[in-house]
Amino acid sequence: MAEKPEQPQEVETTGHSWDGIEEYNNPLPRWWLWTFYATIIWGIGYTILYPAWPLLERATPGLLGYSTRQEVAREIQAFKEMNAEVEARLAAADLTALRDDPELYGYAVNSGAAVFRTYCSQCHGSGGAGAKGYPNLLDDDWLWGGDIESIAYTVRHGIRSRSDETRYSEMPAFGEFLSDEEIAQVVAYVQSLAGLDHDPALAGPGQIVYADNCASCHGADGSGDRDQGAPNLTDAIWLFGDSPEDITYSVRYARNVEMPDWGGRLSDAQINAVAAYVHQLGGGE
Ligand code: HEC
Ligand code: HEC
Repeated sequence: MAEKPEQPQEVETTGHSWDGIEEYNNPLPRWWLWTFYATIIWGIGYTILYPAWPLLERATPGLLGYSTRQEVAREIQAFKEMNAEVEARLAAADLTALRDDPELYGYAVNSGAAVFRTYCSQCHGSGGAGAKGYPNLLDDDWLWGGDIESIAYTVRHGIRSRSDETRYSEMPAFGEFLSDEEIAQVVAYVQSLAGLDHDPALAGPGQIVYADNCASCHGADGSGDRDQGAPNLTDAIWLFGDSPEDITYSVRYARNVEMPDWGGRLSDAQINAVAAYVHQLGGGE
């Protein structure tokens, strides 16, 4: 058995003993104490110089007048100044020649992606793939045109929006003009145009109903008309669905959905940027 080492006598103990274990009453180490005092002084200094103590309305402002809000505003301002030149160039750019200037084009696509995430994705989907009633912007099927100028126009003025120059057309709700039988017939004919299952006995007379009522917008062959935003009815792409119920609904009630106009809300540079972004998503012409 090892001897219990002698207690060094110079250091006092606190006088307590727990199962024979005693506690030294050592002073705090110098370095610790000074650090502690230093943090107190620093803390007092900080609360004098910077916003700190909460009052009723706001915190004490601090002698330096610093605020994170101002800091952010300053950073945004600096960022804007940094981009002012390229933004001005983009706002004035000839969109069809944008790709000839790789630097400007790269800037447009990148900033256009940010505009899209903020203002467009809630309707067109974060990747631009759309949803029922909101067109897919990735494919090469365009209601109103897929060259970059057309896209910019659509974005600036919207579709059936309040802009005076909006893209406008209105499909009539044919429930008011056609009998149920004629609607069933023309729906069957539309299904036959698109290569969907259909009843040929209905589609035959449906062709006549179509020629009389629909061809003026959707074209004699059903391939659509971009001047009127009338969709191509012969392809596999359906804005409002291809089930018999969906097509019947489109014919009976018409859809005439709206896309907001962004002219007053986004800058010219932002509109050109988002048009460049959408144009390069896959379906640009
Ligand atoms: C409130 C929903 C909504 C928002 C937000 C929205 N769109 Fe649209 N957008 C629509 C709808 C609905 C249509 C289809 C209109 C129609 O049927 O003609 C459309 C159509 C379009 C078209 C025409 C597609 C074609 O085939 O010709 C483009 C391009 C487009 N949007 C781009 C954008 C961009 C870019 C933004 C963001 C700046 C945006 N949209 C924001 C609802 C929206
Ligand atoms: C005045 C022009 C006009 C006429 C006439 C018209 N349409 Fe349309 N039609 C449109 C437009 C524009 C749209 C797209 C509506 C929208 O995007 O909100 C549309 C959409 C549709 C759709 C939905 C397509 C999809 O992709 O989901 C169907 C189906 C359709 N029309 C069938 C018909 C039939 C059948 C007739 C005749 C009985 C007809 N339309 C007559 C303009 C017209």
